[in-house]
Amino acid sequence: MATSAVAQFSDTYSTVKVVSESPDLNSIPSHYIHSTSLDASPEDSKAIPVIDFSHLTSNQSDQWYKAIQDLGEACEKWGFFMVVNHGIPESLIREVIEVTDKFFNMPEEEKKRFEGKHVLDPVRCGTSFNASKEKALFWRDFLKVFVHPEFHCPSDPRAFRDIMLEYCESSRNVTKKLLGAISESLNLDERAIYNALELDSMFQIFIGNYYPRCPQPELAMGMPPHSDHGLLTILIENQVGGLQIMHEGKWVNVNALPNSLLVNTGDHLEIFSNGKYKSVVHRAVVNGRATRISVATAHGPSLETTVGPASQLVGSTSSSQGARYAAMKYKDFMYSQQSNQLDGKSILDRLRIHGN
Ligand code: OGA
Ligand code: NI
Repeated sequence: MATSAVAQFSDTYSTVKVVSESPDLNSIPSHYIHSTSLDASPEDSKAIPVIDFSHLTSNQSDQWYKAIQDLGEACEKWGFFMVVNHGIPESLIREVIEVTDKFFNMPEEEKKRFEGKHVLDPVRCGTSFNASKEKALFWRDFLKVFVHPEFHCPSDPRAFRDIMLEYCESSRNVTKKLLGAISESLNLDERAIYNALELDSMFQIFIGNYYPRCPQPELAMGMPPHSDHGLLTILIENQVGGLQIMHEGKWVNVNALPNSLLVNTGDHLEIFSNGKYKSVVHRAVVNGRATRISVATAHGPSLETTVGPASQLVGSTSSSQGARYAAMKYKDFMYSQQSNQLDGKSILDRLRIHGN
């Protein structure tokens, strides 16, 4: 007897989109129930940091300096911020969401062609997170595509390729600029993160998330509490909220400003900064009103880089901080996270060096 509550599906799992479209669905199947899912009541915070991207490129030094300070503080206190005036056209963001919606709306047999078998397959769609390992499934279908340093893309819908190419390049450019500013906020050279983590071949993943309307949203979970691997994740959505971040021990709803990018710090920024900047724990909740679509672009070091704390941030005197994390190859870290159950910061926790 398999331990998984979903053992009735052997090789493949029905998408939650299909489940949600069953006629007269008034309650969710029992293997989608997360009894402790919505225990804490979330807050609506107006205090989520907002970074004006144009100030990071401004040549007015006061404005630039303040933006660097604000960014450093956002990384330290929140691990999360919204970026405005980022220069990515609103129309492109809309197209990304629309074509992702089209992908999930293709007939199930068509999507099956992109199912992938292994967590390192460059194009992989499926349901939940790791359905074969989970006791209860998440109310989410996904598409994950490796888009840099090598670009991959599902062959359908046809329009996907050009839109994905353009958006992923724009989001890499925003990320590089933010990471340069974050380097400076750590009192390092602007190129410090770029050079140490070999961002010429930064690993970038496009993740489309599809959370159908759910008849019992309080019992279901879109994505469990987790932190992202990598450095920065940029998220856009179809104007239906659902992202929550953990801040000072409480869940906070993210109500996106119009045309903003939602950015969270990842585990490798925590490691590189030797714990000064923490990767933020976040989750996705679902709702009974509308289907939510989000697209995350995750940006990490080059896969072959072994990432440890920056040497400049690890003190050499006895009174200063030693390395607080063991180094690990990014590819191994990523594989480990993707092939297990998604569980808070469990992979990062294994690298923590206690006593420092
Ligand atoms: C993710 C993620 C949250 C969301 O894809 O890693 O955290 O709001 N998504 O869809
Ligand atoms: Ni995430």
